[in-house]
Amino acid sequence: MNEELLNVVVRKREIQGADVVVLDLERADGASLPAFEAGAHVDIHVAPGLVRQYSLCSDPGEASVYRLGVLKDPASRGGSVQIHDALHEGREVQISTPRNLFPLVRDAKRTILLGGGIGITPMIAMAHALHRQGAAFELHYCGRSRSRSAFLGELARAPFAACVVTHFDDEAQAQRLNLPTVLGDASAGTHLYTCGPSGFMDWVIAGARQQGYDEAHIHKEYFQVEVDASGGGFEVFAARSNKAVQVAEGQTILDALAQVGIKIDISCEQGVCGTCMCEVLEGVPDHRDVYLTDEEKAANDQILVCCSRAKTNKLVLDI
Ligand code: FES
Repeated sequence: MNEELLNVVVRKREIQGADVVVLDLERADGASLPAFEAGAHVDIHVAPGLVRQYSLCSDPGEASVYRLGVLKDPASRGGSVQIHDALHEGREVQISTPRNLFPLVRDAKRTILLGGGIGITPMIAMAHALHRQGAAFELHYCGRSRSRSAFLGELARAPFAACVVTHFDDEAQAQRLNLPTVLGDASAGTHLYTCGPSGFMDWVIAGARQQGYDEAHIHKEYFQVEVDASGGGFEVFAARSNKAVQVAEGQTILDALAQVGIKIDISCEQGVCGTCMCEVLEGVPDHRDVYLTDEEKAANDQILVCCSRAKTNKLVLDI
């Protein structure tokens, strides 16, 4: 896959809260940027072989700038640290065109946006889009503390500021998020969107299910996932390449395929983006991604080779 890349320049850079860098990116040649939908992300080509996804948090109605927020995570695999260290104002960088794996349902009767920490970013773009269409929505922003949280000034000045409610762990009990109250009656046709640390999202999603929300009304985007590569070895046969390879314990299918010269397009390497998906012709995958739906996982005819493994001794893939 040869994806189109855009050359952009960092026009503005600001550190907000605790360790969030907010970047405004514009086309290096001054042309307008491709339009994007709320919930979309771009891949930033941080360095050769280092590609990371970040949600766009600017107003989708403004085509001149892409804004994104990057939390510095020293425990991560280096992408966010390099962005903090290297992407200063005036610096050029390549990004993908926007892709949307987290789209809004436009005709919802009511929408609840629940962002935890840096997971607020796609919610800001969604709030702009919902406000523009005159939709009924609430944006709830949860964080550990006000001082650590980015985007608070922007949200206070936003045209939809009246729809924003903040919840901080270290402030009064009365302002904490009361999930059942916020979620309300599941029969009201409400659509819920959540993004944030996986513990926060699991709590929100479990609450929505408990409240009787339909799965089709629960929308989620994971931005950071620990890849679990544990488990015994198995064989992968690449049918079109006519090559067999043994995947060792703790090794990914992706790495094993690379050893026999089979290169798969990748992006997140965390089971989040879907770029590395391959068709399964035989065998049963052990799905470890957060990209495929439960139904797609149950069909067992696709696998994300950056993170998933095998329940059978052998997988035959259409590659
Ligand atoms: S590379 Fe993103 S899911 Fe595998």
